[in-house]
Amino acid sequence: MKTLKLGFIGAGFIARFQAVAMKQVRHCELTAIFNHTGAEELADYARSNRLGEPVIYNTVAEMCNHCDAIALFSPNYTRISIMEEITEAVIAGAPLKGVICEKPLGRTVEEAEKMVQLADKAGLLTSYFENQLHMNSINNALHQLRPQQEAMGNFTLARSTEEHSGPHNGWFWDPTQQGGGVLSDMGCHSIAIGRHILTPAGKSPTFLEPVSMQCDTALLKWGQPKFRKVLMDKYGVDYTKTPAEDFATGIATFRNPETGQHVKAQFTDSWMYDKQGLRLWMDALGPGYAMEVNTLISPLEIFVGDEAAESVADAETALEKSTASRGLLAVHPNEADLYGYTTEIQDAVDSFLQGRNAMLDFRYGAEITWLVQAAYLAAERKVTLDLTDPAVREELKGYRSLISQGRGAEILYP
Ligand SMILES: NC(=O)c1ccc[n+]([C@@H]2O[C@H](COP(=O)([O-])OP(=O)(O)OC[C@H]3O[C@@H](n4cnc5c(N)ncnc54)[C@H](O)[C@@H]3O)[C@@H](O)[C@H]2O)c1
Repeated sequence: MKTLKLGFIGAGFIARFQAVAMKQVRHCELTAIFNHTGAEELADYARSNRLGEPVIYNTVAEMCNHCDAIALFSPNYTRISIMEEITEAVIAGAPLKGVICEKPLGRTVEEAEKMVQLADKAGLLTSYFENQLHMNSINNALHQLRPQQEAMGNFTLARSTEEHSGPHNGWFWDPTQQGGGVLSDMGCHSIAIGRHILTPAGKSPTFLEPVSMQCDTALLKWGQPKFRKVLMDKYGVDYTKTPAEDFATGIATFRNPETGQHVKAQFTDSWMYDKQGLRLWMDALGPGYAMEVNTLISPLEIFVGDEAAESVADAETALEKSTASRGLLAVHPNEADLYGYTTEIQDAVDSFLQGRNAMLDFRYGAEITWLVQAAYLAAERKVTLDLTDPAVREELKGYRSLISQGRGAEILYP
């Protein structure tokens, strides 16, 4: 196998972004797309950009017989049933080699563990897509600072945020479908990247041991009556009855098992960030050195005056989740690379072609789900959760947050 034949299940926002990223990735082609909304448009894009000649298939089993790896880019609530179909097809003889899954691996610990079990049962290679660990800006900063780290000691504090003004589709807003609110949607990124920055050079992504979790979830903007109405009118989601958090912040504490040192990853995520568009912001402090990434700072700026603004039909061409189409706008020349999508696909392609799991496998994805669910539990209980306590670990196995059960009003409306 010299080229990895990829199949996409899901042809929406992230699938299109990954297709843009694929233009910069070697040794792979898009050969299959599952027949659902957006499939035809994605196939056209793939053909006109010479990513491959994708065939649109009506069943998951057919796809498994016509590609080397399948990427799950469909909504969170579809994960398990699709993964079950994949497993069944492989056991029945389909030649599929690997499976990729976008974050989050599961909406609960139970779901994420099920994903791991199903992939194991089918003997599939896995890749969990957490793009931020592949961001070149982050990894270049870490590379630059390794000598200082060697001399002075590791990072002790990482702060990471992912914020925008709210998701683009109704199912994200519905906590029973998505698995929660912004903590489930984007907290998984921020917790993962914080831990990555704190991880000493050359150690595995799960080297640092989780010690404790603090978290606060709140509904700061979208619970107000006028914004609830916007959600109802635009997405048919009722935040009077089934709200989800639009703001979450917390601290995950980790222990270095070799030195016993405790380090902290502080995370903040929101769907009420009414600035230019999506902002990823990370900074980290070590003894005598530091790093900082802010994706809203670009070498490229454009200005659109009021008169010219009328001609701008699609504000999102400027930046992911753009909120404005006039004035001084932040624009990125290569967002797919900025957010780490190109590097994460290249890693999955190279790894699968060499017959091994990607840098981040499903087991890693399940641990991130576990940390996110621990954050929900800490917020519900208003306590610092001891993640080393066997009783807490046991409870998390079957835990489903109140917010994801549609009972968010009990904690988000004081
Ligand atoms: N890493 C990131 O930065 C990032 C960004 C956005 C989304 N995501 C993740 O990607 C996944 C998809 O999000 P999105 O924003 O593309 O959503 P979306 O709603 O824009 O697109 C979902 C796609 O899935 C298809 N679909 C829906 N139900 C399906 C089913 N039962 N079977 C097959 N296909 C089905 C839809 O037709 C659509 O093409 C989510 O899990 C989300 O968390 C990750």
